[in-house]
Amino acid sequence: VTLKIAQKGPYRVKLEKDQVYAWCTCGLSATQPFCDGSHKGSGMKSFKFTTQDTGMANLCGCKHTKTPPYCDGSHCALEDI
Ligand code: FES
Repeated sequence: VTLKIAQKGPYRVKLEKDQVYAWCTCGLSATQPFCDGSHKGSGMKSFKFTTQDTGMANLCGCKHTKTPPYCDGSHCALEDI
């Protein structure tokens, strides 16, 4: 499966404590960085997560992070597209 790079950098979003979020893993969602169901048929699925604290977070947009759903700087090493 080839991951689509939705954005070569993180999405800065506000997350609410204890809410369940679905981070887009495939890069096809139109509602980045969250899943909109576009992965259907690809064999991939969203990554569900919650946070302990309400606040801003940097969610990976390149989909190559090693610490999903958060940006770990992996986008810096991607080939230019
Ligand atoms: S946006 Fe993916 S690692 Fe930073």
